[in-house]
Amino acid sequence: MAIALIILGAGMGTRMNSDMPKVLHQIAGAPMLVHAMKSGAALNPEKTVIVAGHGAEAVGKAAKSYDPDAVIALQTEQLGTAHAVAQARAALEGFEGDALVLYGDTPFIRAETLAAMTAARLTHDIVVLGFEAADPGRYGRLIMQDDQLDRIVEFKDADEDERAVRLCNSGVVAAKAETLLDLIDAVENDNAAGEYYLTDIIGIGRARGLTATVVACDEAETLGINSRAELAGAEALFQAAARKAALADGVTLTAPDTVFFAHDTVIGRDTMIEPHVFFGPGVTVESGTTIRAFSHLEGCHVSRGAVVGPYARLRPGAELAENTKVGNFVEIKNAQIAEGAKVNHLSYIGDADVGERANIGAGTITCNYDGVFKHKTIIGADAFIGSNTMLVAPVTVGDGAMTGSGSVITRDVPPGDLAVARARQDNKAGFAVRLFEKLKARKAKGE
Ligand code: UD1
Ligand code: MG
Repeated sequence: MAIALIILGAGMGTRMNSDMPKVLHQIAGAPMLVHAMKSGAALNPEKTVIVAGHGAEAVGKAAKSYDPDAVIALQTEQLGTAHAVAQARAALEGFEGDALVLYGDTPFIRAETLAAMTAARLTHDIVVLGFEAADPGRYGRLIMQDDQLDRIVEFKDADEDERAVRLCNSGVVAAKAETLLDLIDAVENDNAAGEYYLTDIIGIGRARGLTATVVACDEAETLGINSRAELAGAEALFQAAARKAALADGVTLTAPDTVFFAHDTVIGRDTMIEPHVFFGPGVTVESGTTIRAFSHLEGCHVSRGAVVGPYARLRPGAELAENTKVGNFVEIKNAQIAEGAKVNHLSYIGDADVGERANIGAGTITCNYDGVFKHKTIIGADAFIGSNTMLVAPVTVGDGAMTGSGSVITRDVPPGDLAVARARQDNKAGFAVRLFEKLKARKAKGE
């Protein structure tokens, strides 16, 4: 069955107390909207429609950066969840198949749960995702009758008996797209909130003789985020799960609680991660590497046998080949470090190619930026860059070449040459002794 996702994200999210739309707040380096899209992507949807309202432009941009084919449907006034779904109508024109409604602020729904919903759709017209709430609070209540879901009652509209029900509505619902849109046409707003409730489609559908059922999931999956405190809580839950998964995958974390993963971090088996390491988005680390304490990695690749840190920073485009070493207080950006090369101390390597087995001395800087343009530095295989060398790009240091410590290299260095670009040393005999005497005499006079 073809699937269309409709992801609701038009709400303002007042309780976030933010200028940014709620669904763009991030968990593990990705907007919560993207987490919802990733959940839905497991169903291989033919169409993905994002209903956006507050900050629609930014929401659309974030959605398209994850899925360029996502369609943005505008809901200019937030009149309720049914009204929100109705905005997807034009985008679903001609679509034959099932529609699945997800919320942009509900990031943790598992692929297996959505698969259970599509399976339940084979026997029922409408499938709602529900959960047994420890504290049902203000959630909509799922009212069962025999083996069918009979209706959903919003907390505001529920009587005492209905409020006692603990089976709650997650908001996620699946039905044939055509059926869903037909039912929505019949929804009215004569309720406590004066909103068009998506939840009303159950009662309307049942009255029309349609069947409805509930697929239940763990409450943690349906966790919705409404405030910064809940966002922080969701981040903590994500990190706890990511650490557990890394350990199960054969990664050593000496202090798991101090390691932070992104939504897409990939770490190979038998990698060792010391305390206080942070992974931003887009990092892949192969098996058998060591990421030492206090390192910060994003948008980079680390190959087998590499040792990174302590206190290293790998920025987007850093590519470390096998058995490389990047040591303390070294920043690497948009640079390939070839097999066996070492950048061990206090360096900035940006927009560069570093050849195999090259050794980059302490304090080396690639001066890649002239204030307007970025330029490239190429360092050949087996080159030896002396400590505190400034490589003023664009510049090439050939294979097996050397630079003298403290050099400012502005011209290419041919393979095998030694480049020394600094003032020649001049020793003035006895000068230091005479100067000290003079200064001490001035101090004694009270100067
Ligand atoms: C909704 C459900 C409730 C369920 C709860 C689960 C309805 C009527 N109620 O209530 O049964 O237990 O979610 O969290 O559906 N949105 C729009 N446009 C609108 C209104 C909402 O895009 O006009 C979006 C919001 O951005 C949000 C989602 O829909 O992502 C849910 O809206 P919200 O106002 O939070 O609904 P609840 O009152 O929580
Ligand atoms: Mg809500």
